Amino acid sequence: MLAAAGCLVANICPAIYLWTLLLAALTLLLLADYLKNRRPKNYPPGPWRLPFVGNLLQFDLDVSNLHLGIQLFVKKYGNLISLDFGSISTVIITGLPLIKEAFTDMEQKILKRPSIPSRERVFKDNGILFSSGQSWKEQRRFALTILKNFGLGKKSLEQRIQEEALQLVEVIRDEKGHPFDPHIRINNAISNIICSITFGKRFEYDDSQFQDLIKLTDEIICSEASMMSMLYNVFPSILKYLPGPHQTVFRNWEKLKLIVSRMVESHKKDWNPDEPRDFIDAFLTEMTKERSRRRKDETIFSHLLTDYNTMSTCIFIGRTNSKKVHSEIDRVIGQWRLPSTGDRDSMHYTNAVIHEVQRMANIIPLNIPREVTVDSTLAGFHLPKGKMILTNLTALHRDPKEWATPDVFNPDHFLENGQFKKRESFLPFSVGKRSCPGEQLARSELFIFFTALMQKFTFKAPINEKLSLKFRLGLTLSPVSHCICAIPRK
Ligand code: HEM
Ligand SMILES: *[C@@H]1O[C@H](CO)[C@@H](O)[C@H](O)[C@H]1NC(C)=O
Repeated sequence: MLAAAGCLVANICPAIYLWTLLLAALTLLLLADYLKNRRPKNYPPGPWRLPFVGNLLQFDLDVSNLHLGIQLFVKKYGNLISLDFGSISTVIITGLPLIKEAFTDMEQKILKRPSIPSRERVFKDNGILFSSGQSWKEQRRFALTILKNFGLGKKSLEQRIQEEALQLVEVIRDEKGHPFDPHIRINNAISNIICSITFGKRFEYDDSQFQDLIKLTDEIICSEASMMSMLYNVFPSILKYLPGPHQTVFRNWEKLKLIVSRMVESHKKDWNPDEPRDFIDAFLTEMTKERSRRRKDETIFSHLLTDYNTMSTCIFIGRTNSKKVHSEIDRVIGQWRLPSTGDRDSMHYTNAVIHEVQRMANIIPLNIPREVTVDSTLAGFHLPKGKMILTNLTALHRDPKEWATPDVFNPDHFLENGQFKKRESFLPFSVGKRSCPGEQLARSELFIFFTALMQKFTFKAPINEKLSLKFRLGLTLSPVSHCICAIPRK
């Protein structure tokens, strides 16, 4: 009897011991998690969070519904809310007054980009888009000089855009008014501008290397939106070993880098420092400078290029009141010459249409994340060092207080007595020292491509189809693919 009891105890003991150990370990982990993610005093409010996963489980697993869940929190907690995605703690800023405050008074304290596991894996601290500190400063200065000179070598950037617009009009004319998917064609043209600046040449649209490049970037943009890619950023050490769309993203980045380094190699062969043909040549020159050589190498550069390529696949053409655009084009430009950016100031309606398209398209909905570098205060709330800052540009562009018809396409948002009117709540390129350096280029492209196409065509939905303004979620938002017909204007 006693022996049996002893046996029982002997069996229970190790079990208890084991459980105690487990429990202790778990408590320690929870405590560590709690201490690490403890809400400091005055921290922006947000929903309750679970250990380790944070607020992850409170969201719809369907990524495309994520925004609905968050909207509810903003309603409940106000314009500054905190959310934790696994170990990533974010603070989301909504509304013009707070966004302005963050990007002016607080700007110096949020110039850094946070390190996100998937970025880390692909870029390390390279590439202007994801780098920080001194390396960012140098790359930014270099990129701005190139873009400010508005082109390299003999051709101005404006000429390159016009040349490409002409090609685009031709391939679209070849469709003979039949339905086609404009996404591919426009993507080709936009990518060609970037290629022309960086590689010094444009590609024919059916060039196989060019098609590879576009397919790779397109795939990256789509796969980035998958749940697996998001989870990778939360649990990188586990997801690293699992198959899925996040692996496609990594594979494609590697392939892109390879294409670019091959380009750099072939440029080195016939490089003449006195006559830079393109971005790569300018970069090679930059590399020969003593100060730069220490920091930069070709890898940094290859990242720089790929940043640009992704960022630029975003432009699209919207539905418009074509009659008014057509008559403005006919009045200011006519049918026989190419549009140039100089025409923009006399084309108030067209300019307003393009701005309205950008407002609705809203391709970078939460801006590109920043990180707080020193403890700061915003709107009376404490933002500790290391937190990730997101600014809700969607909310700004759809704010019912700022826009007469926030959810309806309406160029009048940007017009006053027939004149183009700038709007303070329109920030698709963000603001401040880290805002988009490609803004001028992107705006020139948008204006010239759009006007050149509208000069020659009337765009219509195919019979029995309605054009939708739905967007697919990705690294950026882009329109759901749909076919349109381009009827040549007489
Ligand atoms: C319609 C097209 C575009 C939009 C809406 C857009 C928007 C943006 C936004 C919102 C940011 C983040 C700024 C911030 O953190 O405050 C950004 C950064 C950036 N954009 Fe653009 N962009 C566009 C086109 C381009 C083009 C054509 C280029 C290339 C020439 C480009 C190059 C960059 C780079 C390099 C950065 C990173 C800047 C930095 O971190 O210092 N973008 N862009
Ligand atoms: C941003 O604002 C939009 C529109 O109000 C909303 O639907 C979305 O949930 C917001 N997203 C975040 C992350 O706050």
